[in-house]
Amino acid sequence: MTETRSYPRRINTDAGDIEFRLMGRADEAAVLTFAQGLPTHDLLFLPRNISQPKVLSAWIKEIERGDIVSLLAMKDGRVVGCGTLVRDPYSWSPHVGEIRMVVSQEVRGQGVGRALSQETFALALCAGLEKLSVQMTADQAAAITLFESLGFKAEALLRDHVRDVSGRKHDIVVLGHNVAQVQAQLEAYGVPGAVRH
Ligand SMILES: CC(C)(COP(=O)(O)OP(=O)(O)OC[C@H]1O[C@@H](n2cnc3c(N)ncnc32)[C@H](O)[C@@H]1OP(=O)(O)O)[C@@H](O)C(=O)NCCC(=O)NCCS
Repeated sequence: MTETRSYPRRINTDAGDIEFRLMGRADEAAVLTFAQGLPTHDLLFLPRNISQPKVLSAWIKEIERGDIVSLLAMKDGRVVGCGTLVRDPYSWSPHVGEIRMVVSQEVRGQGVGRALSQETFALALCAGLEKLSVQMTADQAAAITLFESLGFKAEALLRDHVRDVSGRKHDIVVLGHNVAQVQAQLEAYGVPGAVRH
């Protein structure tokens, strides 16, 4: 999936120099520290709680099987963000990828999330995916604004869909981006190759 993009890549953000690289088994401890430092509310968009070592180790196995690709945003040797592309080539949605992303609170609002979302989006295009989805709790204003600015549109609202540790339920919003349709529209306007791999 990653053959057309090479890592590590370095970018400059308001939070300083950030390195993007692929996550692997050697990162298990560093990613656990990152996940455990996040407010649990910020993990509710994920199907499982990644601050649990067992969940993290299952995630690493999925990466090794090639089912998912995760990019880490590193700052001074620490994990400050993670963007994941999930796809299932054996499902009825082999053309669809889900993006999951989270950035540590200490560097939020400084461009790391935008750069990571663009990089994960580029990975999805390289993989030839036609549609992308992303989901988050309805109160994650930054995440919704960010993905809308990339062309994602609201497709579903799942009421009371997740329950936090205190027992409170939260709505989940699902946004989608029909990459293939947008590409076809741009080509119809005479902008071939506007959505580049
Ligand atoms: C979504 C998230 C990854 C953004 O990370 P970030 O590093 O803070 O993002 P950036 O600084 O690059 O900001 C990206 C855009 O988000 C929007 N944004 C950022 N902070 C915002 C805020 N407090 N309120 C509203 N919009 C905000 C802006 O549109 C911004 O773009 P701009 O600065 O070019 O205008 C981060 O808030 C996060 O981890 N949230 C919790 C996890 C989550 O819900 N993830 C979504 C599931 S995919």
